[in-house]
Amino acid sequence: MPKIRPNHERGVIERTVLLTSGWNMGFRALGFRKHDFSSEKRFLDVGAGHAGTTLNWGPRVYGADPILGKRAYSPHPTPMARKRSVRAKAESLPFRDQQFHHVYSTNSVGYYNRFIPFGQSTLEMLRVVAREGDVRLLVRKGDPEIERILKKATPLFERAGISVSLESSRNIRNRNLLRLVKTNRADLSRLRTLFGRNGLLRSVSI
Ligand SMILES: C[S@@+](CC[C@H](N)C(=O)[O-])C[C@H]1O[C@@H](n2cnc3c(N)ncnc32)[C@H](O)[C@@H]1O
Repeated sequence: MPKIRPNHERGVIERTVLLTSGWNMGFRALGFRKHDFSSEKRFLDVGAGHAGTTLNWGPRVYGADPILGKRAYSPHPTPMARKRSVRAKAESLPFRDQQFHHVYSTNSVGYYNRFIPFGQSTLEMLRVVAREGDVRLLVRKGDPEIERILKKATPLFERAGISVSLESSRNIRNRNLLRLVKTNRADLSRLRTLFGRNGLLRSVSI
């Protein structure tokens, strides 16, 4: 039996089964398979947390979080977090365009919509992801805030060439997986304009 320990990243109330450390099988919740991480593809976890636990999933998983360096590392840090994470906010990522094949966020973007601006953050995440790549967000199921945001944002994403799907997360209760695919006809300048006109670029999205 694997040991069960509190996951300091998510608070002691939510507990995670730790085979190695942290999220472990959480990649399934994002619709990834284990072998995705042995490919040459690059991944970015936005709002990765100071322990950067999903960086365990593979050697080309990188992290960004504004808390890095501001707080002591947890008692069970992911060693890679120091090497492969940067201190940055989702709405201003220090990466060139199209550097990653998959960009994701768990319990951060799309989850804390009162203080992480959804419009600016998804624009940034779509900027750094390659064409045909995607942005995946684990969002709270039945949350009226994200439902309101998605009602507004979904037709705008579609008009700008970003396809949107929302489905139940495979193995995390109370979470939906929101997937934004950057198609070949994606036009982020258009998306920025559409978001601006519809009030989705305010410092908070609601
Ligand atoms: C509940 S934790 C989630 C950590 C990890 N992703 C997980 O699922 O265990 C929320 C994270 O969002 C980060 N955060 C806060 N503001 C942010 C922003 N503007 N952009 C990106 N991340 C942010 C916090 O520092 C914190 O690490």
